Amino acid sequence: MFLKRPRRNRKSEGVRRLVREVALSPQDFILPLFLIEGEGLKEPIAALPGQFCYSIDQALKRAKEAWNLGVSALILFPKVASSLKDPEAKESYNDKGLLQRALRKLKKNLPEMLLFSDVAMDPYSSDGHDGWVKEGEVLNDESLEILKHMALSQARAGTDFIAPSDMMDGRVQFLRQALDQHGFKNVGILSYAVKYASSLYGPFRDILDSKPMWKEDQQKSLRDKKTYQMDISNVREALREVSLDEEEGADIVMVKPALFYLDVIRAAKEATHLPLAAYLVSGEEAMIHAASEKKWLDGKAVLIEALTGIKRAGANMIVCYSALEVVRMLP
Ligand code: PBG
Repeated sequence: MFLKRPRRNRKSEGVRRLVREVALSPQDFILPLFLIEGEGLKEPIAALPGQFCYSIDQALKRAKEAWNLGVSALILFPKVASSLKDPEAKESYNDKGLLQRALRKLKKNLPEMLLFSDVAMDPYSSDGHDGWVKEGEVLNDESLEILKHMALSQARAGTDFIAPSDMMDGRVQFLRQALDQHGFKNVGILSYAVKYASSLYGPFRDILDSKPMWKEDQQKSLRDKKTYQMDISNVREALREVSLDEEEGADIVMVKPALFYLDVIRAAKEATHLPLAAYLVSGEEAMIHAASEKKWLDGKAVLIEALTGIKRAGANMIVCYSALEVVRMLP
């Protein structure tokens, strides 16, 4: 037998490009933007070097930069003052709230940019939970009513896709019906269908000051989000969540985090015909930046490798804080 030479397909950049199975491109990305009150403000985020919290006017500037680089989707997260937080997250459906004003401004100035907005109570809740905490429990059905007000307020402000990240049961169907009943047939739902109770959300919760709050006398179950976010060990359960959200009317389903859950991305891809998103979460990116700052690895190259792995696993789109920096590096 003659020697088989797979190296022939690697001998030059030309042939490597030709046989390449996946390549990143600007349209793969959804760029998250953190919003703060004020004018002309751009506050650095320590755990995500190169990323900032923006006042609405600066967010618009960043959005234009994204558009010019070919990144045509944003997901918005407002930093809500603690004086506006309460157990029922009422600020979340204030039509004049920070998020709603940002949605209006961006839609008006960049009408073709796709806008996604997170639906969950945590940035607005004095308990720091995604649902309504009452008598030591995160209530399910009662939370749906609040999420509905939030989703409708976002739809009125011009969001293209609501992105429920709360993991309450039945929320996709509940929100789909509410949108339809109120004339928002064309507002889509990107469901965080498979969201794990991960320890990788730390930097995000620091930025928004949205950690679960608990007092000594409260139930242990309120110290984390394990009664609604998924157990990190489970993949069959992830497929159940995907199929429920598909049946309930989701347009896109998401797996989160991404890097530690590549097997879940692959399994979800095989289980659904819906487009599949993955979220490279704050802690995953922060780890890469931290090691890079110590010069233990080349952060930019590792970020490209991470994102390529996520796409190779089956994600059609990736939520990534450094999307613009990545797109600038692409060949
Ligand atoms: C809100 C939400 C969270 C993230 C996205 N949406 C935090 C959480 O669930 O605690 C985390 C994203 C990240 O860490 O980058 N429910």
